[in-house]
Amino acid sequence: MMALLLDARLLVRKVKDLSCFTPRRHRVKGKWAATLAKQPATSLALQHFDATYSGQLGELWPSIRVALLSEKKYGALFNNFSHESTLAQLEAQGCRDFISDTGTEAQPSEVAVEEESNCVSIKKSDIDGQLLSPLQLSPHIKCLVFPRGDITRFKPARPDMYGLLGYYLMDAASVLPVLALDVQEGHSVLDLCAAPGGKTLALLQTQSIGFLCVNDSSVSRTLRLRRVLRSFVPKQLLTDEKLHISSLDGTKWGEVESNTFDRVLVDVPCTTDRHSVTEDDNNIFSKSRTGERRRLPQLQLELLLAGIEAACPGGEILYSTCTLSQIQNQSVVEQAIFLAQENHGIRLQVVDLKPLPHMFRKTFHFAPNLHLGEMVIPHLAANFGPIYMCKLRRLS
Ligand SMILES: C[S@@+](CC[C@H](N)C(=O)[O-])C[C@H]1O[C@@H](n2cnc3c(N)ncnc32)[C@H](O)[C@@H]1O
Repeated sequence: MMALLLDARLLVRKVKDLSCFTPRRHRVKGKWAATLAKQPATSLALQHFDATYSGQLGELWPSIRVALLSEKKYGALFNNFSHESTLAQLEAQGCRDFISDTGTEAQPSEVAVEEESNCVSIKKSDIDGQLLSPLQLSPHIKCLVFPRGDITRFKPARPDMYGLLGYYLMDAASVLPVLALDVQEGHSVLDLCAAPGGKTLALLQTQSIGFLCVNDSSVSRTLRLRRVLRSFVPKQLLTDEKLHISSLDGTKWGEVESNTFDRVLVDVPCTTDRHSVTEDDNNIFSKSRTGERRRLPQLQLELLLAGIEAACPGGEILYSTCTLSQIQNQSVVEQAIFLAQENHGIRLQVVDLKPLPHMFRKTFHFAPNLHLGEMVIPHLAANFGPIYMCKLRRLS
C-alpha cells in the first residue's frame, strides 16, 4: 500500500516536472503574452453584461441581448424653430408622433406583456387611478417614429432658408426623461450633463422655459453641443441671456449655486450599454478605461446629489441613464435619497412615473416591476433604449 502511494507521488512530481522540457523561451504566462490577441472591448462588455444582467433581468435578458446587438431605431425630434414643412413630409413617409399618439389599445403581443407586468407590479386599478392624473406633457414636443417592426431609416434632415434643420435624430426613448421632467411656463431649468445636446433640444422645444442653464464638464463635447444648437435653434435664442452654456464639473454645482432651479435634468455618464456592445471606438469597457468604468456609480451619485442641491425646495430632479445596470440606476437613486437627507437635510419624494409606461406602451417596451423609476428596454420590434429614469421632488 505504502509503495503504491509513493509511486503515485512520484508520478505527480514527474508530470509537474515535464514543464522543464519546454525551453524557457517558449514558456509564456497567458496574461503577459503580448502575442495573445486582445479581446475587443465589445466582447468584454458583452461578457460583463451576460454575467450581471442574466441575474438581474432573468428571462428578459436573452431577448434584450439580441435587441442590443441588432440595429437600433431612431426617432426624429421635430424642430419647432425650423421653417421646413418637415412634419407633413415625415408623416407622408409613414411616421407618427408617438407623444400625441397615446391611444391605449396595444398591439396583440403588447397586451400579453402588459398583462404579465400587471400581474406582478401594476394592478389594473392602479393604472385607472393614474389615468385620472396623468403627467402633463408639453404639447410642443413632437418625436416621430416608424411603426413597430418597421426599421426604415430616416433621411438626413434638410436645412431651411435660415440653415436650421427640420429634425434631430435620436433614440426616441431619450425624449421620455424630458417629458417626465414636466417643464412649466417660466421655469428655470438646469441640464447638468448636456452634451451632445439631444435632451437640451427637446427641452427647448417646450418653448416655455424661463431660464436654461446647459452644462457639460467636457470642453470638446460642449463645443459639439454648441454646434448642435446652432444647427437647430435661432441665433437670437443662443445669444439671449435666458440661455447659459458652461463647461463645469457638475459634481461641484451645488457648491456654487444651490436651491435655485425649478427643474434639473441629471443625465449622467454611464456604461452606455448599446454603444458598449456594438462599437469598439471610445468604449468604456476597453482595458485602459477600467478605472473610469468602476468609478461611474460614485460619479453618478455625486452628480445626482449636486443636481438635488441645485434644485429649489419644491423643485423636481430627473435622473436618467442609458444603461440597464441596477447599480448605476436604482442603487444610485437610493443612495442619493439617503445622503441628501443625512448630509444636507434635504428630504425627497419619489415621483411616480407609472403613467409613462401606460401612455407609451404602443411605442416602447418597459421593464416590468422596477421598484424605483421606469426603464425602456430594447426589443426587436421596438428597438429603443435602454433608458432608465427616476424623478425626485425636493420637499425641503
Ligand atoms: C449621457 S451623456 C449626456 C447626453 C445628453 N444629455 C444628451 O441628451 O445629448 C453624459 C455627459 O456627461 C458629461 N459628464 C461627465 N462627467 C461630468 C461631470 N462631472 N460634470 C458634468 N458633466 C459630466 C459627459 O461629458 C457626457 O457628455
